[in-house]
Amino acid sequence: MKGITLLGLGLATIFATSSCNNQSGEEKMDSKKGITKAAFGNADGKEVSLYTLTNAKGTQVKISNYGGVVTSWVAPDKNKQKASIVLGFDSLSGYLSKPPYFGALIGRYGNRIAKGTFKIDTATYTLATNNGANALHGGNKGFDKVVWDATTENDTVPALKLSYLSKDGEEGYPGNLQVNVEYTLTDDDELKIEYKATTDKATVVNLTNHTYFNLTGDVSNTILDHELKVDADHYTPVDSRLIPTGVIAPVKGGPFDFTKATKIGLRIDSVTGGYDHNFVLNKNDTSLTKVATVTDAKSGRTLEVFTMEPGMQFYTGNFLDGTFKTSDGKAINKHTAFCLETQHFPDSPNQPKFPGTLLVPGQQYHTITVYKLSVSK
Ligand code: GLA
Repeated sequence: MKGITLLGLGLATIFATSSCNNQSGEEKMDSKKGITKAAFGNADGKEVSLYTLTNAKGTQVKISNYGGVVTSWVAPDKNKQKASIVLGFDSLSGYLSKPPYFGALIGRYGNRIAKGTFKIDTATYTLATNNGANALHGGNKGFDKVVWDATTENDTVPALKLSYLSKDGEEGYPGNLQVNVEYTLTDDDELKIEYKATTDKATVVNLTNHTYFNLTGDVSNTILDHELKVDADHYTPVDSRLIPTGVIAPVKGGPFDFTKATKIGLRIDSVTGGYDHNFVLNKNDTSLTKVATVTDAKSGRTLEVFTMEPGMQFYTGNFLDGTFKTSDGKAINKHTAFCLETQHFPDSPNQPKFPGTLLVPGQQYHTITVYKLSVSK
């Protein structure tokens, strides 16, 4: 598989000791490469935990088994100042207050299904609608709001294995879907997310992760000065309800043209509301391929995205309006974070020309996405 070799190389089996800040960035502590577990509260009558994955460099990613949310990713900037580059809370109550999918695993179907309905053969399925007339991100209680079963591994790299059985009929979707997601953090600062699923009845599946990034590490800054490059010559235009029209349109020369590194804010005003669009990635196979690079000159941080998926939703936090605050009290405003949600295209079950999202018994859904962080010296 092309590109996959970037993972798992040069991994030290010894546990390195490093010094780092805790999630709030205040206190110094010693941390060891590996994975630790701490209590994070209760939801649905189940205990919820917060797992800390630490690599040999001392980079720490915290993930909860509530919604599989990535709550923090602490890494240094070019001046060695550590900060979290993702939106998240340091307590479960933040997530129970239903933020817009901060850091969460999304399923059974990422993004919108028009009018919450689709057909498989002759059967019509009606989904829970939670976005006007449409179904968004799995419905009222998608995979972002359930407690996943969790196990950990610590062989060469820290790994968190999450599993969830989505029952036949849940949010209207057919089939018992067994979902397994594994997060690993490599010593090269790659957060790898591997998704697998099987079903006992034909269904549709489109899993993703909804992490919001701000590479400055401070939500007081917008992301409009970040430079984005996406390997996509086309995107899927949407109607006023953000449902794809079915057209695969060229990006060339317009505000969706990120084929060369371009500031996110340069042309954002010519896109109503800001970016919330699916890019049709140039790759034409399922290899794990680099598809996007985001750079923030101020912090020197760069994020690269690798995926096996054919599409990627670029969302600029258009609906963030200050309602949610970070755990240290800063308002989370419009355009203060971006998401690069690797995925199949929105509304594919109703769009015969889009790559298919059908999963049938006996098949395995399998996809990998990697977010890789680096910092200029
Ligand atoms: C996705 C959608 C957006 C919005 C956000 C969450 O990116 O495409 O329209 O729903 O999730 O607010």
